[in-house]
Amino acid sequence: MDLLNIEGIGEALDLLELCWQFRPVRVLMAGHQLGIFEMLRTPQTAAQVAKQCGTDPSMTERLLIACCALGVVQRDKGKFVLTKLGRDLLLPESPRYIGGILGHYENLWWFWTGLTEVVRTGKRESAPPAPKEFADKWHEFWIWAMHGIAANGVGQWLASNLDLSDRKLLLDVGGGPGTYSIILCQRFPNLRAVVWDLPRTLAIAEEVIKRFGMQGRITLQVGDWNKDEFGTGYDCLLMSNILHGHGSQAAMKLAKAFRALEPGGLLIVHDFLLNDEKTGPLPAALFNLMVGAYSVQELMAIIEETGFKDVRLVAYLPKRGSGLITATKP
Ligand SMILES: C[S@@+](CC[C@H](N)C(=O)[O-])C[C@H]1O[C@@H](n2cnc3c(N)ncnc32)[C@H](O)[C@@H]1O
Repeated sequence: MDLLNIEGIGEALDLLELCWQFRPVRVLMAGHQLGIFEMLRTPQTAAQVAKQCGTDPSMTERLLIACCALGVVQRDKGKFVLTKLGRDLLLPESPRYIGGILGHYENLWWFWTGLTEVVRTGKRESAPPAPKEFADKWHEFWIWAMHGIAANGVGQWLASNLDLSDRKLLLDVGGGPGTYSIILCQRFPNLRAVVWDLPRTLAIAEEVIKRFGMQGRITLQVGDWNKDEFGTGYDCLLMSNILHGHGSQAAMKLAKAFRALEPGGLLIVHDFLLNDEKTGPLPAALFNLMVGAYSVQELMAIIEETGFKDVRLVAYLPKRGSGLITATKP
């Protein structure tokens, strides 16, 4: 074989690079877990950071260089400090903080570490457990992660692809931290919203809604979709990331959504969606492996079977592998 002249070498290089993309997130997780980012509100040398964080000076400097390459830290005259991106995403006081995402990904890490065994057995429990200090806070990290994702691009994308200017009351089913409701109410001044979720999640939603000063327009409603109806009288209803493929009881949830909406009410579904051939895109395929995902066509068919009309895919975000479907209750 002529090793010098090979077709498709660019694709091979791309795949090789992709194969070790487990590294950047570990850089952020290490910086976060060691408390390094909070040290970098003001410029510090690597030695100063290492001293305050109790870390090895040489490895600390290497970690900081990697953080510079990721764009969250900058280096100036031998000192390191957070960039604007770093301050926006990595400081707990920031409204767009991603500490929850980094904690959540530590928990997910162990599923991916055990993937070979999970595929062999079909049992998620075959994966090694996450460290106890992360596993104990699984729910909190998860819900705060949903906030970090919605606040850093996905929520803005969702709001920019909807027109709710003539809608009055949104039900956000399984609304989590309430961030999509906040963004939609900020975009549409006539809109009020109800975040409907389990009590443990609503405790976080309350904090998030207060943080954004939206208590006057967004209220909370405790509910469990396994037992409760969603209520009535809504002219729009959001189901974001709660219809994850075949295990998600989508038909049951959609039937409740149908009953909760007024005639003419707008259903908005946002979720990870595979293409109709079920060959990608990669973010949706990876989510499908971990949790589950419908194809666009499959989910649209279930929505139609529930009785909704005018079912359409209004936007797709390839970077996330997520789609936005709307439909109307006749
Ligand atoms: C993946 S999160 C989605 C949160 C938010 N909609 C978003 O897109 O960021 C799923 C949400 O469903 C909620 N949930 C899980 N089981 C539920 C149940 N039985 N009844 C009501 N909500 C539930 C969780 O508390 C969580 O907020």
